[in-house]
Amino acid sequence: MEFPATRLRRLRRTEALRSLVRETRLEPGALIYPLFLCPGEGVRREISSMPGVFNLSIDEAVKEAASAAALGIGGLLLFGLPAEKDEQASGAWADEGIVQQGIRALKAERGLDSLVVIADVCLCEYTSHGHCGIVSKTGGDYEIENDSSLDLLAKTARSLAAAGADIVAPSDMMDGRVATIREELDDAGLQRTPVLSYASKFASAFYGPFREAADSAPQFGDRRSYQMDGANLREAMREIEQDLVEGADMILMKPAMPYLDVIHAARERFDVPIGAYQVSGEYSMLQAAFARGWLDPRRAMLESLLSIRRAGAGFIVTYFAKDAAKALG
Ligand code: PBG
Repeated sequence: MEFPATRLRRLRRTEALRSLVRETRLEPGALIYPLFLCPGEGVRREISSMPGVFNLSIDEAVKEAASAAALGIGGLLLFGLPAEKDEQASGAWADEGIVQQGIRALKAERGLDSLVVIADVCLCEYTSHGHCGIVSKTGGDYEIENDSSLDLLAKTARSLAAAGADIVAPSDMMDGRVATIREELDDAGLQRTPVLSYASKFASAFYGPFREAADSAPQFGDRRSYQMDGANLREAMREIEQDLVEGADMILMKPAMPYLDVIHAARERFDVPIGAYQVSGEYSMLQAAFARGWLDPRRAMLESLLSIRRAGAGFIVTYFAKDAAKALG
């Protein structure tokens, strides 16, 4: 049928019609809210490059979790700022580590059962050098070791799962980490804990503000020897395939907006739950535009999340989780 018989504007005339034919929907339950836990009590320290995002002591994080639950948000993703850092990332796998304590506090609190508690598994917040694995130096050269890092990552995942995390999410990008973590969890009787692998994680400038939030900027070099080259979509498919073979239950794509094509390709190809992480820089650049009055905050926020959903992400990790849940409510 051609114009004038076909008029696509007919279904756009009223909000009721638009709602009826809407192909993609956002819901608070599909949003995951990241929290940065720090030592102390009553601490609520705003991240300068991320307005509205805070380092929270555990007592404050519990309050924040309660408000997330009240808004119908699906879950939390936990990161930690340890009191001390060292070469072995002890704070990541210590039973009394900051995130381990935070998980226990969240799980002891009543009324938070609707929140899935996801623990990020990585070493970069806990190593003195800020890399995601063990560093060996020979002369002026350094190497982020793969296989020796796996043991520490597996120990970290085990202690987070033992503390009560509903899901562990390795974000380090070492080869073989999913298999090593799965085996460690199973050996420890933690067969029921799923692994959400950051399978497709690109070396991205958009992680900049996070490194302020998590105090995890590498002290030398960069992460390009372990995170993926932004130019490579086929390699991302191989990373995902490999992590699924190793036993990942679900996968996380990251960053989101600059990599919507990669999310879409993964959705077409793999029949596992897929989430996407709208990372710190994506949040900060929108906030910067909001602060100048250059973009309408509500509409731009929801459109950014909708684009990620439409590309194929079933759930979205986003610093906008609370604002979006309020806007949707
Ligand atoms: C840890 C990790 C990072 C992010 C999530 N997990 C930082 C990095 O890889 O440098 C980034 C999240 C964000 O930017 O919001 N490896």
